[in-house]
Amino acid sequence: MAVFFFSTRFLFFSTIISILVSIALYQLDTFDPAPFPSDALASATTSIPPLLNDGILDGAEFVGDGLLNRPEDIAYHRDSGLIYTGCADGWVKRVKVLDSANDSVVEDWVHTGGRPLGIAFGLHGEVIVADAYKGLLNISGDGKKTELLTEEAEGVRFKVTDAVAVGDNGVLYFTDGSYKYNFQQCVFDILEGKPHGRLMSFDPTTRVTRVLLRDLYFANGVSMSPDQTHLVFCETHIRRCSKYYINGGRVEVFIQGLPGFPDNIRYDGDGHYWIAMPTTVTTLWKLLMKYPFLRKITDMTVKYGFNPIGLENAGVLQVDLDGNPIALYRDHKLSHITTGVKIGNHLYCGSLLHSHIMRLDLLKYPAQKWL
Ligand SMILES: *[C@@H]1O[C@H](CO)[C@@H](O)[C@H](O)[C@H]1NC(C)=O
Ligand SMILES: *[C@@H]1O[C@H](CO)[C@@H](O)[C@H](O)[C@H]1NC(C)=O
Repeated sequence: MAVFFFSTRFLFFSTIISILVSIALYQLDTFDPAPFPSDALASATTSIPPLLNDGILDGAEFVGDGLLNRPEDIAYHRDSGLIYTGCADGWVKRVKVLDSANDSVVEDWVHTGGRPLGIAFGLHGEVIVADAYKGLLNISGDGKKTELLTEEAEGVRFKVTDAVAVGDNGVLYFTDGSYKYNFQQCVFDILEGKPHGRLMSFDPTTRVTRVLLRDLYFANGVSMSPDQTHLVFCETHIRRCSKYYINGGRVEVFIQGLPGFPDNIRYDGDGHYWIAMPTTVTTLWKLLMKYPFLRKITDMTVKYGFNPIGLENAGVLQVDLDGNPIALYRDHKLSHITTGVKIGNHLYCGSLLHSHIMRLDLLKYPAQKWL
């Protein structure tokens, strides 16, 4: 009997049946991915910086190791010397960093009940949080009061409230990655390849939420320019950051053809932005971006419990105010890096994977010429 089951005829029929079942499943599946715009597809990485540190894990130290559950974004409060970060368990945590990373003290500060991502300081001592599930939150400086500022615009609710920047005018500028898929479903947003993201503002004096830009390919990090004239925001799926001029609303490319998918962008107060990239563009990513049918097949395998897409070679890119790349800090053993904030001589990195904030002494472990 055993011989029968492994006969050529059995193999032939089982293969045919598998193929027919797969075709039927493919046809029945309603997931309908779109081609990405051709300029975004330029899979060529055009923004190559002259300086590189290709092995940042060699010099990295771990802050709050084991006490921070996937700290996505980081904000540094200069007066108190505290780092604020949002964790996967819903806590906004505060970290007091001392000279030795091992001595850092972690405090559970405020639980949002959602998933705090982007974090920034308001003009009156409050902490503004972009909470993926809740929307835009205002947490009073003493941590006693949390107020929901906004959770929808033009009648469309946010699904991934992602990042926030505060203007000197008091207006909050923030992003919603997608109005269609929530934070846990983000992979389907990139697989579908359609623009569900928005850049918005919230004016605390009028309490009006305004859509500044719609149809963005996963609106992610946002930062205010030091001269307050424009925002720089990242569109993760098409590996591009753009400028949005506050006065008039003109949009310009800031940097494109990034060496990875951009997440948060942070200004360091010293002439540079830092753009975090949770993964480089692997060959599989290039193929997926190019061929919608591959994204449909991947969508099916993910739904059936197998996600073939890996994230690797994560890092942070330093760029100047005109979007020229300066230096890249990365490591092929690293993934899911979501933010890079420069504090003193150190680069502090948040992530969607690790249980610590990673930091690197930039003087001890500088990026060097590599071309
Ligand atoms: C910090 O802790 C790590 C892990 O326990 C250890 O390997 C390292 O040597 C410590 N560093 C210092 C400066 O104590
Ligand atoms: C946040 O709430 C505080 C009161 O707790 C208020 O003073 C402040 O203006 C609010 N900030 C924003 C941006 O709404």
